Order: sequence, then C-alpha cells, then structure tokens
Amino acid sequence: MTLMTSAGRVPEVFGAARVDGDRPRPLLEVDQVTKVYPSEPPVTALRGVSFTVARGELVGFVGPSGSGKTTLLHLMGTLDRPSSGHVRVTGLDVEQLSDRELAALRATRIGFVFQQFFLAEHQSVLDNVADGLLYAGVPQAERRARALDALSMVGLEGRPHARPNQLSGGQRQRVAIARALVGSPAIVFADEPTGNLDQATGQAILGLFEDLHDLGVTIVVITHDRDIAARLGRRIEMLDGQIVFDSADKAAVSPMPAPRAHSSGKDHRP
Ligand SMILES: Nc1ncnc2c1ncn2[C@@H]1O[C@H](COP(=O)(O)OP(=O)(O)OP(=O)(O)O)[C@@H](O)[C@H]1O
Ligand SMILES: [Mg+2]
Repeated sequence: MTLMTSAGRVPEVFGAARVDGDRPRPLLEVDQVTKVYPSEPPVTALRGVSFTVARGELVGFVGPSGSGKTTLLHLMGTLDRPSSGHVRVTGLDVEQLSDRELAALRATRIGFVFQQFFLAEHQSVLDNVADGLLYAGVPQAERRARALDALSMVGLEGRPHARPNQLSGGQRQRVAIARALVGSPAIVFADEPTGNLDQATGQAILGLFEDLHDLGVTIVVITHDRDIAARLGRRIEMLDGQIVFDSADKAAVSPMPAPRAHSSGKDHRP
C-alpha cells in the first residue's frame, strides 16, 4: 500500500478530495458495528451501527452521555477496532490492516480534534502544528511551511511563535484544528471540539468547520450542543449504542425537541 507517501499541500489535496473517479465510494463505511468493552462486567457500547459518510459531508453526532459517541469516533478514526462488523476508511478495511498500517492510515488520511486540545505547552504554535506531520515523514522545512498554511486556514498565521498558554481557549482549539489539517487528511473527526469553550467561541469554531467544509473537507463532529448540531448539514442521533435518527434518511422525523424559549433569539455568530 502507498499510505506513507506524503500528501500534497493542504488546499490542493482538499480540492482533489472532491473528485473521486467514475464510481465514488463512501469515504467512510460503518457496517453492523458492535463494541463490547471487556471490563467487569462487560459493557456493550455499540449495538449494530451502520451508516456511510460521503466525501465532502459535514456530519454531526449527538446523543446523551454514555450513548456511545466517543466509542464510535474511536472506531471511525481507527484508534480502536470493533468487536464485530466492519469499518472502512477511504476504502481500506480496518480489519485487514496491521497496527502499523493503521498508524500510517491515521498519519496520512485522518485528522483529530479533541475537547481538551492536547497541545504541547512548551512548544510554539508553529511547532505544535508542524508536529502533526512527524509521522508522515515530511522534512522539517516543509513541515513548517505546511504548518503556516494550516495556521492561515484557521486565521492564526500572525501568531506562529506564541506558546499555547498565551492564547485564548478558542485560539488553542484553532491551533488543534490546524494540527489536524496539516496532513491534508481525507477526513477530520472532532470529539466535543467546543466543549471547553464559551458558547460564542464554540459557534465561531463551528463557523471555521463550515468554512473548511466549503473547501471540500469531510468532517465528523460529536457535540452535546443542540444549537451547534442544528447548524450541521447532516445530524445523526445516538441512544444506548444505536443510531435512532439520521437526517440523511429523508423519511426520518426529527425527535429533536423544539428550542426552549430562553434560547431563542440569540445570535451565536460572534
Ligand atoms: N474503556 C472502557 N471500558 C469499559 N467501558 C467503557 C469504556 N469506554 C467507554 N465505556 C462505556 O461505554 C459506553 C459508551 O461510552 P462513550 O464514551 O462512547 O459515550 P459518549 O456517548 O461519548 O458519552 P459522553 O457524552 O459522556 O462523552 C458507556 O457506558 C461507557 O461507560
Ligand atoms: Mg464522549
């Protein structure tokens, strides 16, 4: 396989990701997936989950705590393997890849954004982002050039030498998003990316995801925030390890409750 070849510069690759030959196949395929954690007692976190994500989609997963969202994100992101069923990313069957091949797949095709940012505090913003390319085998000078490109995509090109602790929460999350983007991934997974941010900053981060989506990036976001979920192109709701609603299913009727009176009339765009 050719996973270790380094990808092109960020915007070009995102553009290329829109084109998929004559017979496009879903970028992500999750087929009858279950996950049982072998704890004492064992926990069944996913019970037969199936869906696909096409290139260029912006998908939001919502659901109560414990419904299996993070478990599913770990499986989609090849950080863990299902107990049964199949996960295919860019057409590659996770089941058939070794741990080393999965690491290569993650390094070259997948970007991650987490609630806690996970930035190295002693390193500059630029190096935090450039390190996203370490495992893809890109030389240092090119890593830094691409990191600057990614920082400009998130509006932080003016602060490459700042340390994370000199930035606001929203700016830190932008750095984490730049790090996720620097390898020109085919798909970006974000687990509660706005969970540590105030609502206005969270909405701004979502606006950034929308801009990236417009560039052709495929993004899957887990969120507790129903205002944010309502803005996403496709919404999938989970309950007790199963998908109970998918807005891509045209016949589906949304079980989302009507907005509460106190949350109406707010302008979330800062
Ligand atoms: N490593 C583990 N070992 C055992 N059980 C686990 C493990 N990780 C998660 N679980 C259980 O699996 C179920 C789903 O957890 P998961 O973290 O996927 O939920 P979630 O929807 O992401 O919740 P939250 O919104 O609180 O983040 C829960 O019952 C949880 O306790
Ligand atoms: Mg979770």
